Amino acid sequence: MGDLRPRPFLKWAGGKNQLADALLQRRPVHFKTYYEPFVGSGAIFFRLYREGLLQGAALSDVNAELIDTYVAIRDHVFEVIDILSELPHSKEFYYEIRSKDPWKLTLSERAARMIYLNKTGYNGLYRVNRQGQFNVPFGRYQSPNYLDLENLLAVSHALQNVEIICTPFDTIVERAEPGDWVYFDPPYVPVSQTANFTSYYANGFSLRDQERLRDVCVALSQKDVQLMVSNSDTTIVRSLYASPYFVIDEVKANRAINSNGAKRGKITELVITNYRVDQTIQRRPL
Ligand SMILES: C[S@@+](CC[C@H](N)C(=O)[O-])C[C@H]1O[C@@H](n2cnc3c(N)ncnc32)[C@H](O)[C@@H]1O
Repeated sequence: MGDLRPRPFLKWAGGKNQLADALLQRRPVHFKTYYEPFVGSGAIFFRLYREGLLQGAALSDVNAELIDTYVAIRDHVFEVIDILSELPHSKEFYYEIRSKDPWKLTLSERAARMIYLNKTGYNGLYRVNRQGQFNVPFGRYQSPNYLDLENLLAVSHALQNVEIICTPFDTIVERAEPGDWVYFDPPYVPVSQTANFTSYYANGFSLRDQERLRDVCVALSQKDVQLMVSNSDTTIVRSLYASPYFVIDEVKANRAINSNGAKRGKITELVITNYRVDQTIQRRPL
């Protein structure tokens, strides 16, 4: 099967590739099942898999097309590859496939469309209008790699025993057991009024949702489930998690998606855990 080192197969706003080292250093020493309820491109899941740190895993998100793409790659990877290999790279074809209603396609066709649009569309964004229609324009790439055979096979292999569900994050309280580990990477609280990082999904993520997430974290802590949360370094987030249940830590991140190129650079983000980070893990070479 070639290279069994799966990497994220989609570009996703808020993708955690470049923060992966810092986040892995803050993992619990022992954990049973790993949960990622805002999976997006799954950067941390794939990294944990590559490090051989997973016993069991469950990935979820409210984006149904995204979740179907994971399911199709897990269960029908050769079908997805066959379909992708037939798709030409052109502006005309991009708008043709974009105009199709994904819910009238088969599961594998829907997944191939998602991967194709993600790799050939502008900036790898996922954005839908009020009607839920994908509306990102064609991206000007010379030869986008939408058929990354080796990685798709490796991803399929990694997903074989993984539970993949389309569900809102709060259902995690019923599913996680003591000793499990949940990593929450929600749409962030905006750093300023103009920064709009909350529109990954048509419904956005309100302050009320942030509060519900914190309440879920308290409920999980009372159940002895270990958890880690990423969010922006804002007064709102600091006050939401100001409680004896949580430890708030800072990490440095490069903003990958920012409409204003001049503003790219290092910013501080918060990592909240409900356990103390073990220093021996921090020193262990990864
Ligand atoms: C910051 S992104 C996650 C990025 C991911 N960690 C990665 O590496 O690509 C946030 C994700 O939360 C999902 N989401 C938004 N609201 C949600 C909700 N109420 N429940 C579950 N997922 C939600 C979005 O669809 C999006 O994929």
